[in-house]
Amino acid sequence: MIENRKSDHLKSAINNFKYQNLLKDIRLMHKCLPKHNYNETNLSTTLFNKEIKLPIMFNAITGGAKESLEINKKLARVANDLNIPIAVGSQKIAIKDDSFTNTFEVVREFNPTGLVIANVGAYATVDMAKKAVEMISADALQIHLNAPQELAMPEGDRNFKEFTTNIEKIIDELNVPVIAKEVGFGMKKEDIQELAALNFDAIDISGVGGTNFIKLENERYIEKDPPLKDLEEWGITTGESLLEASAYGFNNIDIIASGGFSSSLDIAKALSLGAKCVAMAGFPLYILWNFGEEELKRKLEQIETQLKSILLLTGSRKLKEFEESPVLIQGNLKEYANQRNLD
Ligand code: FNR
Repeated sequence: MIENRKSDHLKSAINNFKYQNLLKDIRLMHKCLPKHNYNETNLSTTLFNKEIKLPIMFNAITGGAKESLEINKKLARVANDLNIPIAVGSQKIAIKDDSFTNTFEVVREFNPTGLVIANVGAYATVDMAKKAVEMISADALQIHLNAPQELAMPEGDRNFKEFTTNIEKIIDELNVPVIAKEVGFGMKKEDIQELAALNFDAIDISGVGGTNFIKLENERYIEKDPPLKDLEEWGITTGESLLEASAYGFNNIDIIASGGFSSSLDIAKALSLGAKCVAMAGFPLYILWNFGEEELKRKLEQIETQLKSILLLTGSRKLKEFEESPVLIQGNLKEYANQRNLD
């Protein structure tokens, strides 16, 4: 049952993927007199004490479905070649049934020294979280917060009472960094504040704009009305969530930006606001599935080239300098920031 659902999600996410201009209300400013050598532009950064070559990562996608082994093997190989982090999909299925562990273990096998991130939900006990980390010798653990997705599934969880207590215990007992992660419905400042107070090491705001789990779940119930039929536009967009994070303060905790990223310009905008790293799920899955591993690698190398160009064209040699370059917020996003007092 869970295995089939995971297969449905993969196919539906691929079919629904679209390229977009996600952060069109955010603008970067051109500098007409560059002063650097392009070849000296440095995109490397440190995440959880490991140096990574680019501030981008593969976000949690899969494990446990019949397609997972091949997908995870290929994603892991690309992550290894490019030295970028990779997270696996929810490991609940393999924690409960050992026969699924190989679909996750393959990520560590094909990326032996890179930054690999385990994934469980906030339902998890300390033992489950430890098992997930051990399964792939993970460097960090994502705890996903996916209440809208659960409510969209007739068989999904309805009781979220224990979540905060579970999270506190996991953070207390685990000896790897723990990341709080949305799955595409975004976060507001007050939630980011609350998560930071729980002592998370990083927060992935994963906003509205890309993969939409209410829509994906709704598509699985074509014969009867799905539970969240009218809620396909629910949530806080990625741009809005980034402004919320910015108001909280990017220096207070590492913020990972995700939700709908596929272009270097959007990635650059999130980084210029102060995000530590940009995570992508739908885009790499779509490219890998339709065009293969080499094309995924080529696309990411193209993103690297364009990010370096953007840094040069804003007068920045490295990411720390880029964060200081001016950013304009306009249109609906400006209106949102005004109403939310996010200045
Ligand atoms: C996901 N995502 C996800 N997240 C998570 O924490 N655990 C999981 O098991 C999954 N599973 C999953 C399956 C598929 C097929 C996709 C496309 C995505 C959510 C993902 O990590 C990310 O937060 C959202 O997809 C938003 O990012 P994109 O896809 O718009 O880049």
